[in-house]
Amino acid sequence: MSNPASPPAVDVLDERTGLTFPPGFLWGAATAAYQIEGAAAEDGRTPSIWDTFSHTDGRVVAGHTGDVACDHYHRLGGDVALMAELGLKSYRFSVSWSRVQPGGVGAANPKGLDFYRRLVDELLANGIEPWLTLYHWDLPQPLEDAGGWPARDTAARFADYTTLMADALGDRVRYWTTLNEPWCSAFLGYGSGVHAPGRTDGADAVRAGHHLMLGHGLAVQALRAARPAAEVGVTVNLYPVDPATDAPADVDAARRIDGLANRFFLDPLLRGSYPEDLVADLATVTDFDHVRDGDLATISAPLDLVGVNYYSRHVVAAAVEGDPVDPSPSCWPGSEDVRFVTRGVPVTDMGWEIDAPGLRETLRRVHGYTDLPLYVTENGSAFVDSVVDGEVDDVDRLAYFDAHLRAAHEAIDDGVPLRGYFAWSLMDNFEWAWGYTKRFGMIHVDYDSQVRIPKSSAKWYASVIRRNGLAA
Ligand code: NOJ
Repeated sequence: MSNPASPPAVDVLDERTGLTFPPGFLWGAATAAYQIEGAAAEDGRTPSIWDTFSHTDGRVVAGHTGDVACDHYHRLGGDVALMAELGLKSYRFSVSWSRVQPGGVGAANPKGLDFYRRLVDELLANGIEPWLTLYHWDLPQPLEDAGGWPARDTAARFADYTTLMADALGDRVRYWTTLNEPWCSAFLGYGSGVHAPGRTDGADAVRAGHHLMLGHGLAVQALRAARPAAEVGVTVNLYPVDPATDAPADVDAARRIDGLANRFFLDPLLRGSYPEDLVADLATVTDFDHVRDGDLATISAPLDLVGVNYYSRHVVAAAVEGDPVDPSPSCWPGSEDVRFVTRGVPVTDMGWEIDAPGLRETLRRVHGYTDLPLYVTENGSAFVDSVVDGEVDDVDRLAYFDAHLRAAHEAIDDGVPLRGYFAWSLMDNFEWAWGYTKRFGMIHVDYDSQVRIPKSSAKWYASVIRRNGLAA
């Protein structure tokens, strides 16, 4: 018999702290195809730029590749069962373009589509809302050979692929994200070259950024045409950018980096224009002659939601005399003279400063652009984990999630229409140029045995989902 003097603890805590999220809040976790699927050469899949890149000496730490990854392609059922145990309301995954349309042009690959159909059906059978990302960085290699994202035609190819996917899965997938983090695809892929395809040309990076957004706009049209009921959005990675001091040169450095990191994408996508100061900053890099009449109208087509990926804050300063300046083209074209400053606050295993208030700031900023529903489509942290007696007690990761969810809740209190949150990541996976050396998962993966162990953060997240909020 229950004791009337002790009401359920969860309700009391929620009432006291007020940290209940709005009804229907979409609690999820995210992954991406190349980071988890493996089966790189199976059932007709052909190479993407990440296959080529990871198989090139010196590109990825320890020569790691996504050939096997978490072997999710063969373990779909078990992985969805783990999601169901967590109580996820939604699962954000991406489609490997080369799996469903080998080579990036022409006919669909039925076996590739089958895999995603099975995944989506399994999710739906478990009451988990599928959230599909069309492009999470893995361009089919032949499209890169034809010019990649700096080439305009790639945007049209992306729209064709989108139609193929909308036809195949639009009957059962409600949420669609066109691009994931176009800044990374453009500026890490074509600027600094630390991501695939590893090219290093500032003008190409800027062109790539534009054509990615053009591809997004064309994909929105394709989705609207094929599936009028779809909820369509895009995911951008954003950072507050602060000057290290009030000195005018530092303030200007922050303005420039903010232009490249944030406004390069937010302004065209949500306002239909490039910021004038950004265009002026980039004058030595490109004259923007790749932008054609009508592009910005296509890019700013109305959306149903905006996805925000948030990890950290940038603090920058102008280089002072004597600072070593990187002579190679970087991921900040035209701003290679800016220094990134560390503040000595705690960092994750990526070296990224932990800054939960930055999430609230970022969400408020995006809300300043639009009244659309917002979703945190990624947020999370890498830490070194150890398995002790079959358990992983990842207190640092758990604390990171907790702090950021509190910040997200503050944003809601501020009036931001935040409708959901996706933890990055469901499970440890291939962390791009870092290979398997960085672990972001709530579920530990032993890459030799493929055994999965839900970490403490996973159990905690399950309780957050159950109570639709946080305890004190
Ligand atoms: C953002 C990317 O979308 C994801 O693929 C990556 O693993 C995480 N950030 C962590 O770096």
